[in-house]
Amino acid sequence: MKVLLTRKLHDFAIKELRKRYDVEINYGKIPMSKKELLLKIRDKDGLICFPYDIIDSEIIDAAKNLKAISTYSVGYDQIDVKHATKKGIVVSYTPEVLTRATADLTVALMLALLRRVVEGDNVIRQNKWKTIFGPYDFLGTDLHWKTLGIFGIGRIGKAVAKRAIGFEMNVLYHSRHRLSKSKEKNLGIRYVSLKRLFEESDIISIHTPYTKETHEIVNLQLFKRMKPTAFLINTARGKIIKEKDLIFALQNKIISGAALDVFHKEPIDRKHPLVKMKNMILTPHIGSSTEETRRKMAEITVENLILSLSGKNPRYAVNTSYS
Ligand code: DGY
Repeated sequence: MKVLLTRKLHDFAIKELRKRYDVEINYGKIPMSKKELLLKIRDKDGLICFPYDIIDSEIIDAAKNLKAISTYSVGYDQIDVKHATKKGIVVSYTPEVLTRATADLTVALMLALLRRVVEGDNVIRQNKWKTIFGPYDFLGTDLHWKTLGIFGIGRIGKAVAKRAIGFEMNVLYHSRHRLSKSKEKNLGIRYVSLKRLFEESDIISIHTPYTKETHEIVNLQLFKRMKPTAFLINTARGKIIKEKDLIFALQNKIISGAALDVFHKEPIDRKHPLVKMKNMILTPHIGSSTEETRRKMAEITVENLILSLSGKNPRYAVNTSYS
C-alpha cells in the first residue's frame, strides 16, 4: 500500500511505516499546495496530515484509493470528515496525549499575561529596570481567588480546570454539553450560560472545538459583557474568535489583555494589528509542542494509520460509522 505524509515525522515513526508501506514524504513547501496534494494523493491508500493541510472534498475525491486519514492533531476541523465518512475513509486523530501539555501552556499564558512576564523580560533586555523601582511600578494581577471561565469542557478544558483549582481559582464553565452534577462536584466547577461566563469571569479560556457553530462565536457582543479588567486566553483554534472585534476590544480597553496561541491565519503576519498590541502575548501554536508529547502524538498517528489500513478500528477514531 502507498502512504503519503504531508511533512516529516519522527524517524522511528517513518521506520514503522516503511516496514509496511511504500512511503512518500513531502520535504517541500509546508503546507503542500493544493495542486501538489491533489497530484500526490491520487494513488495513495493512506494519508498522514497535519492541522494546516486542508483535506476538503476535492482532495478526498481525487484520492481514488484512499482508505485512511490519520491526523497528527487533536483538532480535525481541517478535514471534511462528513465527506470522508461517505467515502468509507477512516479518519483518526491524537486526543488525550496532548491534553496536559496544552493545559500547561494555557496556564503558562495566563500567568505570563497576568504577571507581565514577557514585558518584564523586555524591561531588562531594553535596560529599563532603573526606571521601575517604585512600589506602584510594574504591577500585575493576582491569579489566586480570581474567576476563570472555561468555554468548552472537553479533555483540555477539564485539565485546565484542575490546574486552576490548584491555583485557588474559582472555576466556571460553559459547554455544549453540561457535565453531570457529580462530575461538576468532583472538579469543583460550576456551569453557567455563555453570557454569564463572559460577564462573571476575570479570565476567559477557550477550549471548544472549531466548528460551523463556533466560528467567530467570541465577538464584540461577548467582549462587551466582559469586565474591563478581564483577560482572554485562546489555545484552541483562532477562528473561534472574531479577531477584528478582539483588536477593537483591546484598543478601546473593553478588556484588559489577551494571550493567543492560535490565529485566523497561521503563521500570523508580522504586520498584523494583533502583533502590535501591547496588552497581548502571542505564541506560535505550540499547545502540544513538547518533546514528550510530540513523540507520543507520532506514535499514535502511525498506530492509527496502521490499524485503519489493516481493516481494524484505529485507537482514536473520528468517524465511527464509515461504510
Ligand atoms: C492540535 O492537536 O489540534 C493542535 O492544535 C495542533 O498542534
